Amino acid sequence: LTVLANKPVAPVAPTMWGVFFEDINFGADGGLYAELVKNRSFEFLNPMMGWKELKQNGKGKTLIINRGNEKPANPRFARITVDSAQYGLSNEGFRGMGIQKGKQYNFSILAKKGDGNINVMIELVNATGKKIGSTSLSNFSGEWTKQTASFTTTDTAVKGRLNVLFEGNGFIDVDMISLFPQETWKNRPNGLRADLVQMLADLKPGFIRFPGGCIVEGRELQNRYQWKTTVGPIEDRMSIMNRWNVEFRAPRNAPDYFQSFGIGFYEYFQLAEDIGAEPLPILNCGMACQYNTGEVAQMDQLDPYVQDALDLIEFANGAVTTKWGKVRADMGHPAPFNLKYLGIGNEQWDEQYIERYKEFEKNLQQKHPEIVLVGSAGPSPNGPRFDYAWKEFKGSKAGLIDEHYYQSPEWFFKNATRYDNYDRKGPKVFAGEYAAHGKDDTVTESKNTWFSALAEAAFMTGLERNADVVKMASYAPLFAHVEAWQWRPDLIWFDNLRTVGTPNYYVQKLFANNKGTHVIQVLQDGKVLAGKDSIYASAVLDKTSGEVIIKLVNAATAPTSYEISLAGVKLNKNRATIEVLTSPDAYAYNTLDQQKNIYPVQKTMGIKGNNINVSLPPMSLNVIKVSIR
Ligand code: AHR
Repeated sequence: LTVLANKPVAPVAPTMWGVFFEDINFGADGGLYAELVKNRSFEFLNPMMGWKELKQNGKGKTLIINRGNEKPANPRFARITVDSAQYGLSNEGFRGMGIQKGKQYNFSILAKKGDGNINVMIELVNATGKKIGSTSLSNFSGEWTKQTASFTTTDTAVKGRLNVLFEGNGFIDVDMISLFPQETWKNRPNGLRADLVQMLADLKPGFIRFPGGCIVEGRELQNRYQWKTTVGPIEDRMSIMNRWNVEFRAPRNAPDYFQSFGIGFYEYFQLAEDIGAEPLPILNCGMACQYNTGEVAQMDQLDPYVQDALDLIEFANGAVTTKWGKVRADMGHPAPFNLKYLGIGNEQWDEQYIERYKEFEKNLQQKHPEIVLVGSAGPSPNGPRFDYAWKEFKGSKAGLIDEHYYQSPEWFFKNATRYDNYDRKGPKVFAGEYAAHGKDDTVTESKNTWFSALAEAAFMTGLERNADVVKMASYAPLFAHVEAWQWRPDLIWFDNLRTVGTPNYYVQKLFANNKGTHVIQVLQDGKVLAGKDSIYASAVLDKTSGEVIIKLVNAATAPTSYEISLAGVKLNKNRATIEVLTSPDAYAYNTLDQQKNIYPVQKTMGIKGNNINVSLPPMSLNVIKVSIR
């Protein structure tokens, strides 16, 4: 093989490899969002969902009161009445509460004292009911006031519960009953699960697309994602039912899946900043999910949708003296978030979409030509409706078009050449959602097998080779709770205390951590390697670190070896490194208990003159790195 190391053919966009976050599979509530109390403000369809009454001797009760227009974003609260006995509410958490031993936990409650005098005991218990932490609160005010209390736990629990016990005589009104670990990502209050954010940070993603996915669209327009209801004080963020609230057999069944918006647009922008990723919000374009109601906003009713987009730019980038810039500043971030990209619509494709997209484009281009608009081509990567969207976008101002594909591993291998013939003059490509889905298990969708990851690796060499046209790519979905998923495969799995990277995660990591700055060619007999003898290859130059990085996928079941000559450069060291991701078992996958079944192994290798000899194990992704002069 020859690597034309001194002939960069195109820059690799810094945004090339990114992540796509959606609140699916308990990705936000019950996942990334570190809140442990489910239905903390009694706003679920059934207001007591997640809560159980603890009636010691029948002398207490809970009444759910709706204050309607007085507080439209958070209308319900609970009135607790007690009569000289202890009465309590117990919260089950999101499939239990994951509690760590010896750590601080912060309880908070919004409360308003009624008649009489009531004290509150707070107890964290494990699955057998053993107390593993407690604190108490008293002296409540007659006005709605937030009270807080912290405690340190004595034990670990995978499925803890929170008991809130009321003692005394009379009644008290309560709302926003909350429990957070002190240790969140950057120890922020209302924070994110640090272990899950770390998994994202380790990818060094070039961008983060948020907040979805289908939840942007909603099953119907009324339940679309509206960013304005997700910023400001958390008690003023209006909960809605999650679009992934589904009735299915366990573990997909999720009648209790709601969006608290504890993670809202401020938190997404902050997360993007923390992990060094460009924020890429996707907004509803006036259309509900085309797979559900397919409801659309009438064209002359589109203004509020377009205004949401204009206001979002002000929220992210506007001066603190502007209306929405001030909201950002008041939340703690006076500096702009430096938004550069904005997606209009998720996974939409037809005439209704294009018509609505154009209305956004007209307004946004006029007022914010600096923002790169991201259009959508829809979900079927070969076919008339997909081609229709692309054709319509040709003359548009869209900078990027979002393509989605959930296909078989075979499709991914075959499509390693997909972008070789894309129009170089039209909008650029954003491969916004993709994953290889096998059919190797009993529940219709596949596990994260090594074979699926290998197919994606082969395909990604094609994305990299075509970095002049592909500017962004993200696997989907990102997160899944092992006891509460609706869709698989997914990149990162977790339970209440642990997290595990899939083979697909390590493929993403190997590409993203080795993205380089410029594409260079890897040739065999003057041709690119994209499937011949089941070998797939791409290479980049990293002008910053002075390295050549070669990615080689051997999809065959037999080993093979190559001599690679690096043309036009001198190698600096007499050693190169190779990271190998492989498994002899195509159907192997990682689990929370066996995290490293498929895991990258790094080795050094010898260099002879300007040549490198590599052996590629069967079914392997190999990332070879050499320093050049
Ligand atoms: O990633 C899961 C879903 O797949 C997304 O919500 C949607 O955009 C696509 O259909």
